[in-house]
Amino acid sequence: MRDDTLRRRAAMILPRPEEKAAYVRAMFTGIAPTYDRLNRLMSLGLDRQWRRWAVVHARVRPGDRALDVATGTGDIAFALARRVGPEGEVVGVDFSEGMLSLAGAKARESGIADHVRFQWADALDLPFGEGEFDAATVGFAGRNVTDLPRFFSEMRRVVRPGGRVVHLEISRPKLPIFRTLFQLYFYHLVPLIEGRLAGSRDAYTYLPNSLTLFPGVDELVQIMADAGLREVRAYPLLFGTITIHVGVVP
Ligand SMILES: C[S@@+](CC[C@H](N)C(=O)[O-])C[C@H]1O[C@@H](n2cnc3c(N)ncnc32)[C@H](O)[C@@H]1O
Repeated sequence: MRDDTLRRRAAMILPRPEEKAAYVRAMFTGIAPTYDRLNRLMSLGLDRQWRRWAVVHARVRPGDRALDVATGTGDIAFALARRVGPEGEVVGVDFSEGMLSLAGAKARESGIADHVRFQWADALDLPFGEGEFDAATVGFAGRNVTDLPRFFSEMRRVVRPGGRVVHLEISRPKLPIFRTLFQLYFYHLVPLIEGRLAGSRDAYTYLPNSLTLFPGVDELVQIMADAGLREVRAYPLLFGTITIHVGVVP
């Protein structure tokens, strides 16, 4: 399908900007119990490795303090916690209570609840001071926010100079063959299979359509640079279907 057709269709399906935050919150609270299982299934188990790569790009060290924005069920926060160790601290924030409560339960089960904590916060209005963290990460959430420039400026604001802001997200591959396969998978298979398993076809129709309206890889580099980040680079994974963007706080 052509890009402009996809964009027109997505604009009809997706919630209006003023309704988006409430829609996204309710949707993630609804799918929270099946979220991890479906992530593994949809990515054929590769999602854990992608999150670990994002954390490698954050370059945190033992003793550091790191923030994971829109943490969901906390998998990136846990990967960060393993790197900063017991002398460091990781804070995971999200605005879905359902996702946060699962993240908290997973932290207690894994025995690292003492150096990772989860709290409610809106990514567009982070309740932290300037430069409080050594790095900030975000995975698979940029598509859900209503104001991307503010989203990145908030992460830049709370990270110290020299620290990194890392963004991990699904992306549209540039090569036509991968683009076609990607469209088949996300626009047809995902809503069908996941809709049945998660019991929410809506949520997995939202997923591909939110991606249609999300900026491309190069555009995102520019948005991060405009938010005040320097040396912004994009690292494609899996033929460009996943991209890690990294920026340094000046
Ligand atoms: C697809 S999940 C990603 C979760 C996690 N980062 C991961 O890697 O699996 C998107 C998450 O973003 C959260 N989210 C979306 N917009 C947000 C906002 N404005 N503030 C805080 N959390 C937000 C949702 O509640 C949801 O938990």
